[in-house]
Amino acid sequence: MSGDSGTYALVKIAAKDVEIRYRGKVALKPATFDIRSSTIHSIIGPAGSGKTSFLRSLNLMSLELDGAAIKGSIKVDDDEILTIRGAEKMAKLRRRIGIVFATPQPLPRSIYENIAFGPRIAGTRKKADLDALVEESLRSAHMWDEVKDRLDLMGTSLSGGQQQRLCLARTLALKPDIVLLDEPCSALDPISTYKIEQSMQELKGNITFVLVTNNTKQAARVADRTAFFLMGELVEDGPTAKIFTRPNDQRTGDYIEGRFG
Ligand SMILES: Nc1ncnc2c1ncn2[C@@H]1O[C@H](COP(=O)(O)OP(=O)(O)O)[C@@H](O)[C@H]1O
Ligand SMILES: [Mg+2]
Repeated sequence: MSGDSGTYALVKIAAKDVEIRYRGKVALKPATFDIRSSTIHSIIGPAGSGKTSFLRSLNLMSLELDGAAIKGSIKVDDDEILTIRGAEKMAKLRRRIGIVFATPQPLPRSIYENIAFGPRIAGTRKKADLDALVEESLRSAHMWDEVKDRLDLMGTSLSGGQQQRLCLARTLALKPDIVLLDEPCSALDPISTYKIEQSMQELKGNITFVLVTNNTKQAARVADRTAFFLMGELVEDGPTAKIFTRPNDQRTGDYIEGRFG
């Protein structure tokens, strides 16, 4: 279990009174907490608690694609993101804030193209630069050795665990400073799960990770801080060690000990 990153860690994402509704129905009651720079911050809680809604609000996918109405404030590096509108600004935000979903969704293209596609659109054109980026991203996702001799293979032909690492590599290739992950290992084998956890730990110096996980043991293994969401409510947030051993709220302890959810 990683320790608390200390009192002086910078705030990367400041969520203040964030309330999320779908067609008037509340999915998350006003929630306030900070996500610190260069940490892994997990969000745990049973299904239907608002975890995905919150995560997808951090890159405005819930607003743009899911029909969510979001109130309150979400500041990233002190800049309000909830007022961002327009395809171009949204695309820019999503290059900065990458996302990995529960089900791996590689492009129906080669392994190489899965990674080079985004950076090329973002302006990297030279083959040598793209080659280097593909290698670096695959190495960061602990996948290079498995695929370096067959980069022209379709991404979709890989195993589920490899596809998920490919999706992580694709996200990393855009040099994001935040990566959101929504139950990224829920369908993965233990080895791929371990490799993804290892990647996050190695990369968190430069990247802030927000990890929604249905696996409390995973949160305990990798997260510096943990937020517990329960049926649309942020129950508590704090250093992972504290949440797991001395929670403030009885419901947190009950969930962690498997008494519900
Ligand atoms: N696109 C959507 N449209 C309407 N309701 C939604 C949508 N997405 C989620 N919800 C509702 O919001 C609540 C929280 O869902 P969600 O954020 O997916 O929770 P979790 O990720 O914790 O399982 C649930 O009641 C769910 O039915
Ligand atoms: Mg979810």
